[in-house]
Amino acid sequence: MYRTNTCGELRLADAGKEVTLAGWVQRSRKMGGMTFIDLRDRYGLTQIVFNNADNAGLCEQANHLGREYVVQVTGKVAERSSKNPALPTGDIEIIAGDLKILNPAEIPPFTIEDETDGGDDIRMKFRYLDLRRPCVRKNLELRHKMTMEVRRYLDSKGFLEIETPMLVGSTPEGARDFVVPSRMNPGQFYALPQSPQTLKQLLMVSGMDRYFQIVKCFRDEDLRADRQPEFTQIDCEMSYVEQEDVITLFEGMAKHLFKELRGVEIDEPFIRMPWSEAMKRYGSDKPDLRFGMEFVELMDILKGHGFGVFDNAAYIGGICAKGAAGYTRKQLDQLTDFVKRPQIGAKGMVYARVEPDGTVKSSVDKFYSQEVLQEMKQAFGAEPGDLILILSGDDAMKTRKQLCELRLEMGSRLGLRDKNKFACLWVVDFPMFEWSDEEQRLMAMHHPFTHPKDEDIPLLDTKPEDVRADAYDMVVNGVEVGGGSIRIHDSALQAKMFEILGFTPEKAQEQFGFLMNAFKYGAPPHGGLAYGLDRWVSLFAGLDSIRDCMAFPKNNSGRDVMLDAPAALDPKQLDELQLALDLKEK
Ligand code: AMO
Repeated sequence: MYRTNTCGELRLADAGKEVTLAGWVQRSRKMGGMTFIDLRDRYGLTQIVFNNADNAGLCEQANHLGREYVVQVTGKVAERSSKNPALPTGDIEIIAGDLKILNPAEIPPFTIEDETDGGDDIRMKFRYLDLRRPCVRKNLELRHKMTMEVRRYLDSKGFLEIETPMLVGSTPEGARDFVVPSRMNPGQFYALPQSPQTLKQLLMVSGMDRYFQIVKCFRDEDLRADRQPEFTQIDCEMSYVEQEDVITLFEGMAKHLFKELRGVEIDEPFIRMPWSEAMKRYGSDKPDLRFGMEFVELMDILKGHGFGVFDNAAYIGGICAKGAAGYTRKQLDQLTDFVKRPQIGAKGMVYARVEPDGTVKSSVDKFYSQEVLQEMKQAFGAEPGDLILILSGDDAMKTRKQLCELRLEMGSRLGLRDKNKFACLWVVDFPMFEWSDEEQRLMAMHHPFTHPKDEDIPLLDTKPEDVRADAYDMVVNGVEVGGGSIRIHDSALQAKMFEILGFTPEKAQEQFGFLMNAFKYGAPPHGGLAYGLDRWVSLFAGLDSIRDCMAFPKNNSGRDVMLDAPAALDPKQLDELQLALDLKEK
């Protein structure tokens, strides 16, 4: 038997017991005639004592243990003279009677403790060592608990967990696919699924009624803190449901997860906000509602006073940062630089301070009388000590998005984005389509299988850009943690949708014939949703990036630096696949 107990288990009540522990040497220190070792495993740390006076040979052996050696120690549990209240095992120590080195270790490339000297790159290269750090391990434990709770909840609601294939066909629409060549079908490629969307719909046609899967999805898109090329969805689909049924069930699941995993009780129903309202009030389809700072539109007040930038703008809007009037010139310049960054793209920023006497001092005072500035102050409900920040532009949607970035930045600077506070909402009534400048055509905002709102179906022929979808996203703290829709289950409507998206009937049949044909054999009305598991875990763990809750994530260039993937293929493999490379120089 390698061990009788774990390193996180023993307490004062165990004093006097003879035990055997196994684990990694985290630290060792010599004090007088004693050597102390902190022994670590997944469950915690236990202090081991070697006493030179009792057993000089054993103590000498202990003095030679290096960090991360794997050892087995047998000894007696004893009460500590100087207790460590920060440690669950801090009341006891093990007086070692025997020591066995199970495996020596080279000096690790960084300190394996919560506080580490290892930078991001080195920790990712040696991720298996990084995972020994309790703060990282805890995120995986939370992830495990979450998947267990999800399974429990969905099982209790009658959902069946069904696996769908990882080697599927490539589909247009959505992000880019990761493709896999087929040796047995030379020149042909599978794609890894971006989501099991069409397959779960086919499972509804099969009569499975309620499906879920905790499933890997793959998307070849640019990475961000909340995006990885492979990530995990809690993917669900239900038959004979309307939007309200799906929202109710998955809001219930969200509340269940909040309660079980964060101890947070959310009693009220989540806010429902139409997409158009979210864009108008917050410039985002995933507004962070932990704080206010809503947009105020200022076209009526600020246009026509001779300030060219505003006079020519299609949109002028601002936010009011409470109590920030004391911002220095330097801080304001920093904010201006922030909105002018290429990723944000604003041309400039106008600010106005509300002085202690209530007057308003702005960076464009020469164009505006105090009367106009007071009118603006009132529009914000601003008070002495507040700072008003204004952006304008010739594209209302773009300017709103810029103002959204500024709002989030100010929220962060003013400490309004508390990680222990949760603001949940559903964004509903998304537009069915959005215009793509790149593709020069309408694209589905969610995906082409989303059902348009019944009352908007007549607009499909006349004003498709005004059609709203039966689609909904769940947003928590400004993060889209899930999204779904009611689906089209009628092959004619599905064909129409592809037509609007610019597919010829032949192309639609070639790409999606399997689905449209299936709809001809009695497809039930259905709908569903997918939660982003990684986003939920990182939200609950208070992480800045979803990478930290994945065992082996990719870096920002989509590389696994530990496995050194992706990598070139052996010429023999290329040969087997009958592939030749012809890399174009960029
Ligand atoms: P969608 O594309 O909105 O919907 O994805 C569902 C949820 O998955 C998460 N997510 C991601 N998480 C990490 N990295 C990524 N690259 C990434 N992309 C998405 C988000 C998102 O809300 N088939 C539909 C769902 C449906 O309609 O049922 C779909 O895939 O949290």
